[in-house]
Amino acid sequence: MPGFGEPRPVMSREERHLLADLFEKACGFVLRDDLTFVAERRLAPRLEALGLRDFAAYHRFLRFDPRGPDELETAIDLLVPHETYFFREPQQLDAFEAEVLPEAEARARPTRRLALWSAGCSTGEEPYTLAMLLVDRPSLAGWELDVLGTDLSKKALTHARRAEFGPTALRATTPEQLARCFEPLTGGRHRVKGRFRAPVRFGLLNLIDERAAALLPRFDVIFCRNVLIYFDPLTRRRVVELFYERLSPGGCLLLGHSENLLSLSTRFEIVQLKGDLVYRRP
Ligand SMILES: C[S@@+](CC[C@H](N)C(=O)[O-])C[C@H]1O[C@@H](n2cnc3c(N)ncnc32)[C@H](O)[C@@H]1O
Repeated sequence: MPGFGEPRPVMSREERHLLADLFEKACGFVLRDDLTFVAERRLAPRLEALGLRDFAAYHRFLRFDPRGPDELETAIDLLVPHETYFFREPQQLDAFEAEVLPEAEARARPTRRLALWSAGCSTGEEPYTLAMLLVDRPSLAGWELDVLGTDLSKKALTHARRAEFGPTALRATTPEQLARCFEPLTGGRHRVKGRFRAPVRFGLLNLIDERAAALLPRFDVIFCRNVLIYFDPLTRRRVVELFYERLSPGGCLLLGHSENLLSLSTRFEIVQLKGDLVYRRP
């Protein structure tokens, strides 16, 4: 165990490969070479807490110790980015409201029920944002609205369910949105108002667990933003296929702006809206 003043353990190329293999199998996350330094820094406290000398010993712990599965969860939580905030990528949200929603409403009118999925929802800002766009929409008055947020991280989901957020999460929220959708707490924190919490449910789901995902219902719209970028191409393709299966015919998948499916041949139809590119299940 490195003592006070001892240098932090360095991750060799081989150790990175071994750990990357474990992480990729567990959740699709690719520990790229250029992330070695970040991984060293974030995982060093874990080695220290467990009394392990180097990353080879950490890898053995993850694989063979009875506490390995819990530790793997902790390691993944430390490595996978959870960055998110309310009303992220407003231009895409405008396109969703102006172009995607009216189509979804037209299809769902017979049942007056709309179901959305935020896959990889982190601490909940995205599904709550979607609820904030749906709940006060006059054309949806009296409809049954369902917004499911899922993530791999138990910690992120606990935060999401609490529905309390600080200034960083609210940095793109306008004063009007803040007043309409949040109750002020102390210290610059805010809580999502009850009527926007009501349609939102959260669940633990690893997107590479196809069997668990197959138990989900069908959705009218799926948001999966800033998640696929961390996956290897094969996992990305499998997850995209899973989204296809979980969409109702005519339903749309919306990705983050740094991601696109153009390089993946999928069954999706690419639809260029005025304000965004979306993927539609024909
Ligand atoms: C950068 S956040 C994106 C949050 C939100 N979608 C947004 O765009 O603001 C990525 C989230 O994806 C989750 N994630 C990564 N791999 C996952 C997997 N295999 N299954 C489920 N969630 C995963 C992470 O835990 C993290 O909370």
